[in-house]
This record gives sequence, structure tokens and C-alpha cells, in this order.
Amino acid sequence: MRTGYELLVGALLFALASSAYAQHSYIGAEKCKMCHKVQYDSWLATKHAKATETAKASTRWKFDASCLSCHATNKDEALAGVQCEACHGPGSDYRAMSIMKDREKAIANGLIVPTQETCNGCHDGKDHHKPVTFDRDLVHARKK
Ligand code: HEC
Ligand code: HEC
Ligand code: HEC
Ligand code: HEC
Repeated sequence: MRTGYELLVGALLFALASSAYAQHSYIGAEKCKMCHKVQYDSWLATKHAKATETAKASTRWKFDASCLSCHATNKDEALAGVQCEACHGPGSDYRAMSIMKDREKAIANGLIVPTQETCNGCHDGKDHHKPVTFDRDLVHARKK
């Protein structure tokens, strides 16, 4: 039997954990498009946008769920391709205009400004996952 004290401590820890590590969720690239059409359209033309299809169509390696960690967003086939959020973080909490227009607030709400480390997560230099040198102009066009 748990004592009342143990239950209270448990509840407090749970409350702390849920506030400090609030899980941001994925909303999909279509939701970013309305405000970032230039980036969206140019991203759509890159291999990242088709990464799930490419892996599934491979004749060199047999497709299975393990491919999705790099060939999809959040390992989720429903979020096909290496989408915006695979590099910029899940957008549920930063997508609102009031937050997006304030860079610090956006970052506090889960926005990631990608660096070489972000690329290394998938371009890890093992097997066919060749390393890539960080270059922002390889991933999509800049705004305007
Ligand atoms: C309601 C409009 C809106 C939506 C939806 C939106 N954004 Fe933004 N975003 C903005 C505005 C405004 C800025 C600040 C000005 C700018 O850079 O265009 C911004 C800035 C950014 C920046 C630049 C941050 C920096 O300063 O380096 C990134 C990256 C970004 N958004 C990614 C996304 C992603 C990814 C999504 C979808 C998950 C998204 N945005 C959805 C409006 C939006
Ligand atoms: C650790 C991340 C990672 C995993 C896991 C992964 N890939 Fe890849 N894959 C990559 C990267 C990065 C590239 C791009 C390499 C380049 O061209 O620089 C790539 C490219 C490819 C390509 C196109 C290029 C080529 O050489 O034909 C195919 C097809 C492919 N992967 C299939 C798969 C399949 C199938 C699986 C699962 C069995 C898989 N990958 C698992 C990261 C990964
Ligand atoms: C979530 C995993 C993931 C992340 C993060 C990621 N990539 Fe990729 N990248 C891939 C996969 C998978 C492919 C292969 C897609 C295909 O061929 O269908 C790829 C392909 C590419 C290619 C095309 C290579 C070719 O053969 O033409 C370039 C360039 C590239 N990535 C650059 C980058 C850069 C720069 C970053 C960091 C800013 C980055 N990637 C972050 C998974 C990722
Ligand atoms: C493979 C990684 C990757 C993907 C996928 C990606 N981005 Fe980016 N994005 C970057 C990098 C890298 C930068 C430049 C960061 C820096 O150094 O300021 C950037 C910058 C931005 C900016 C800042 C304004 C600008 O154009 O420079 C916006 C807005 C943005 N991305 C939106 C998006 C949206 C929307 C998508 C999906 C349609 C997307 N990104 C997909 C890596 C990525």
C-alpha cells in the first residue's frame, strides 16, 4: 500500500515533470506553408521532401520501420519526408503569430534554429548516411 505522503510526492513530481518537459507536438509542413510559402515551395523540390518515398522504393535496402528515424519526421510515416519540424522542432506551441514574431518566445516554445548538429542526427557518417556540411542554402530558399 502507498502512503498518502508517497502519493502526494508522486503527484508533485508528475506535475513538475509535465510542466518542465511539456511535449510539443507535430503539426505537419502544410501548417507552416501559409506563413512561409517561399521556404515551403523550395523545400518541396528537395530530396528531403521525398525521403519516405525514396526509402520505400529502394531496391538496394529493404524498407522497414527503422528507416523512418531518418526518412520521415518524428519516425512517423504519416509525417512523410524530412519536413520542416524534423529540423525546426515540433510546432504546436510556436506556430501562433504572437509567438512566432518574437524569436525568443518561439525558441522558448520549441523552435529550433538548426546547426550542424541537427544535420548530424541523420547524416551521421555511417553506412549510406553520408555526412553533410552545414549549409543553409542546401535545404530551402530564404524568405522574400
Ligand atoms: C501564423 C504564421 C506563422 C506560422 C503558421 C508559422 N510561422 Fe514561422 N514565423 C512567422 C513569423 C512572422 C516569423 C518571424 C519573421 C520571419 O522570419 O519571417 C517566423 C519565423 C520563423 C523562423 C525563423 C526563426 C529565426 O529567427 O531564426 C523559423 C525557422 C520558422 N518561423 C519556422 C516555422 C515552422 C517550421 C512552422 C511550422 C511548424 C512555422 N514557422 C509556422 C510566422 C509563422
Ligand atoms: C541514420 C539515418 C538513416 C537511416 C536509419 C536510413 N537512412 Fe537512407 N539515407 C540517409 C541519408 C542521410 C541519406 C542521404 C545520403 C546522401 O545522399 O548524402 C540517405 C539516402 C538514402 C537513399 C537514396 C540514396 C541512395 O544511396 O540510393 C535510399 C534509397 C535510402 N537512403 C534508403 C534507406 C532505407 C531503405 C533505409 C532502412 C533500411 C534507410 N535508408 C535508413 C539516412 C538514413
Ligand atoms: C531527419 C533526418 C535528416 C535531417 C535532420 C537532415 N537530413 Fe538531409 N537527408 C536526409 C535523408 C533521409 C536524405 C535522403 C533523401 C532521399 O534521397 O530521398 C537527405 C538528403 C540530403 C541532401 C541531398 C543529398 C543528395 O544526394 O543530393 C542534402 C544536401 C541534405 N540532406 C542536407 C542536409 C542538411 C544541410 C541538414 C541540416 C541542416 C540535413 N540535411 C538534415 C535526412 C535528414
Ligand atoms: C533539413 C533541415 C531543414 C528543413 C527540412 C527545413 N529547414 Fe528551415 N531552416 C533550416 C536552416 C539550416 C535554416 C537557417 C538557420 C540559420 O542559420 O539561421 C533555416 C531557416 C528557416 C527560416 C528563417 C528564414 C529564412 O528563410 O532564412 C524559416 C522561416 C524556415 N527555415 C522555415 C522552414 C519551413 C516552413 C520548412 C518546411 C517547409 C523548413 N524550414 C524546413 C533548416 C531546415
